[in-house]
Amino acid sequence: MKSKHKLFHGKTLAILTGGGDTPALNSSIESIRNRASFLGYKVYGIRHGWKGLLGDGDVLDLSHQPYDGFYGGTALRSSRTNPFPSKKKPENRVPQILRNLERYKIDVLVSIGGDDTNGAAKRLYETEGIPVIGFPKTIDNDLRTRTMHNYNGKEIEAVLCPGYPSAVKGIMEFTGRIQTTAESHSRIIVLEIMGRDAGWLTGGAVFGGSELALVPEFEMTKERKEFFLETVKERYMSSPKKSLVIAVSEGVRWYDEEKGKTDVVYASSEVDEYGHPRFGGISGIIASDIYNKLHIEARAQSTAYFARSGECRLYDRRLTTTLADKVVDLLLREEYGQMPVMSKMVKYQELEEFNCSSIDMGDIGNRPLSEEYYNIDEFKFTDAFEDFLAHILGKPHFLKFDYDFPIVIPRD
Ligand code: F6P
Repeated sequence: MKSKHKLFHGKTLAILTGGGDTPALNSSIESIRNRASFLGYKVYGIRHGWKGLLGDGDVLDLSHQPYDGFYGGTALRSSRTNPFPSKKKPENRVPQILRNLERYKIDVLVSIGGDDTNGAAKRLYETEGIPVIGFPKTIDNDLRTRTMHNYNGKEIEAVLCPGYPSAVKGIMEFTGRIQTTAESHSRIIVLEIMGRDAGWLTGGAVFGGSELALVPEFEMTKERKEFFLETVKERYMSSPKKSLVIAVSEGVRWYDEEKGKTDVVYASSEVDEYGHPRFGGISGIIASDIYNKLHIEARAQSTAYFARSGECRLYDRRLTTTLADKVVDLLLREEYGQMPVMSKMVKYQELEEFNCSSIDMGDIGNRPLSEEYYNIDEFKFTDAFEDFLAHILGKPHFLKFDYDFPIVIPRD
């Protein structure tokens, strides 16, 4: 029910963060907290995601505390707790959530998360009438934010989620650094990059100088794998320093000769409360296939949590504050079940607020890389993707030292 005169009512808003951490979470919390406080809300933080609303609750008062939004991770902590029954936890814990919302007198809930966390929030809104507002976050960048990217007059559906800009910058930097080791040892380095079922994050390696990439969106069938290995050989042999960095998404489906089928590689058989397994290990398999078939020295290297950790980068700082402004809008209008998003990629910060909208929190998950962004025939991200990335990262960043010393020939 809509209440009159919501402004400066002194009601209570609670923020929670769920799922994997990102460098932009504290920035999101701080931006939302500051704006909600201006509106007169008392602001609480729920610890460990949905878990903080189970049992006796684990709730902090964020109202008047100093906060460093540039510091990565989440001061509220996070978990992959699912309040709804799942295979792993069949118990329905929604009554505990409702009881705690009542006990702590929480009027509005802002859930900062990906598809799982926001999906649960949306369900609470639909089934229990809890006023919720979603706030996007993911390093995988796989939420359907419907952010349009104009490239050479063509509108491409892109994604822009807080967390991704910082993480993709980390991937660019990591890739840029590893080049010197690949060059020094005349090696191929197969770099494994998080991202689950989407290749958005792997794309950051392009601006770090990686020339070939594999993404989960395209299955590496027997034929494709053979062609890929030929391409690897050709690229390596023609590279000036006999080195190559290949970026591979953790969720790549790779043909396994022994099994006679393509499959993803799991780090463990365990699944979380939302039913997701953990990927990990594909780079080792690809590196040994390269060595065994091409006889070129190849090493696997995982970027693991490197992209997810560390400080919030400037682009994310801007993005989170712009989206938090939109949260104010939703609060004032009492429009719940919505999530603020950027509706367009824009070059200038001043234009962001005019290109911000909100979408329904439901049905936002698993947006793969747009087909315009990757070319499977060349195992490469396209120019359109580089243009998308340039909006976020500016220019590519990798070391390049083109030495050309003359060879000494002994006089016999
Ligand atoms: O969804 C974010 C993400 O970092 C994925 O890229 C990755 O597959 C997963 O989380 C790893 O999760 P965990 O925190 O369980 O290691």
